[in-house]
Amino acid sequence: MKVLVTGGLGFIGSHTVVSLIENKYEVIIVDNLYNSKIDVLDRIEKITGVRPKFYKLDCSNSEEMDKLFSQEKIDSIINFAGYKAVGESVKKPLMYYENNLDICFALFKAMEKYNVKNFVFSSSATVYGLPDKVPLTEESPVKSATSPYGETKVMIERILKDMAFVHKDWNIAILRYFNPIGAHKSTLLGEDPNGIPNNLLPYINKVAVGELKELKVYGNDYPTPDGTGIRDYIHVVDLARGHVLALKKLETNPGLVVYNLGTGKGTSVLEVIKAYEKATGIKIPFEFAPRRDGDVPENYASTEKAEKELGFKCQYSVEDACLDGYNFQKAETERVKNLIHKTAKTL
Ligand code: UFG
Repeated sequence: MKVLVTGGLGFIGSHTVVSLIENKYEVIIVDNLYNSKIDVLDRIEKITGVRPKFYKLDCSNSEEMDKLFSQEKIDSIINFAGYKAVGESVKKPLMYYENNLDICFALFKAMEKYNVKNFVFSSSATVYGLPDKVPLTEESPVKSATSPYGETKVMIERILKDMAFVHKDWNIAILRYFNPIGAHKSTLLGEDPNGIPNNLLPYINKVAVGELKELKVYGNDYPTPDGTGIRDYIHVVDLARGHVLALKKLETNPGLVVYNLGTGKGTSVLEVIKAYEKATGIKIPFEFAPRRDGDVPENYASTEKAEKELGFKCQYSVEDACLDGYNFQKAETERVKNLIHKTAKTL
């Protein structure tokens, strides 16, 4: 089984590639390195002993995609490629709509022309908007999202439904991720965004290694038990395994299927800080700040459907993910320091 993984060197993509290789899939990665590093390919090889074939290509370019599909006989696609920063998307909506939609158009055209029938799409819990009630089931209404980024997910889900309607032999898995955190145990793969992180765990990691002074907790007046926002934090290695299970499901020809990938458990920002401190023994200084625009008070997944139909069950806790995330950050900071030291010596 040859699986094309777009954005396969990114945070979720790289962990999924490892999981696919461990499950004996042949993986081809396409990534334009916009938000990822080529080193990740070496690290995947270090972990799995297999170096997947890699193409540095822009997935939004249909000619380049056409060429790739003419060279490789691809059975399935997992599409991670796309811009993903919520705040940036509010400032640059056109960039987000154009890129995220063009990537899908290029892939769908190639699927039609080269007879590829299986497609897994990285969607997000953001499609549920402000939830009427939690936990969110796959039947909860899909609403207008609170950012252009989120809206691209809503739009692509809609386009996928239209594609499935005309292509009865296509199998499509829409996976709605909750909040992926953590890193690979080896400390070789993880999330290390450029600049000041927007997301909670990458920010806490930088505080833990001393790169940032303190965390700002956005809002302590939400209608939640401790007043801070509640999310469903899922370890990225569990999430990666969910993709392999989804792919196996597609091999049974189910048509279009939708699954939440979360733990089913909500955790508040203050609880995350506590779990992090317990797991790492490091104190995380924080102060309360006003609510962040676009944040919902609470969301977490109903995991019943994924558990029943995919056999998906999370193995790791928030505490496990905090420790793995911290260990990755610490190792990465060391690696960067060593590199700077080495470069300075050779100059
Ligand atoms: N938070 C802080 N301080 C920070 C960063 C975040 O208090 O510095 C809080 C937020 O207010 C929220 C929680 O931590 O209550 C989680 O925030 P994240 O930014 O880590 O994650 P979000 O839930 O906002 O967003 C994530 C993904 C999006 C996706 C969304 C779907 O990053 O891509 O989940 O629900 F769209």
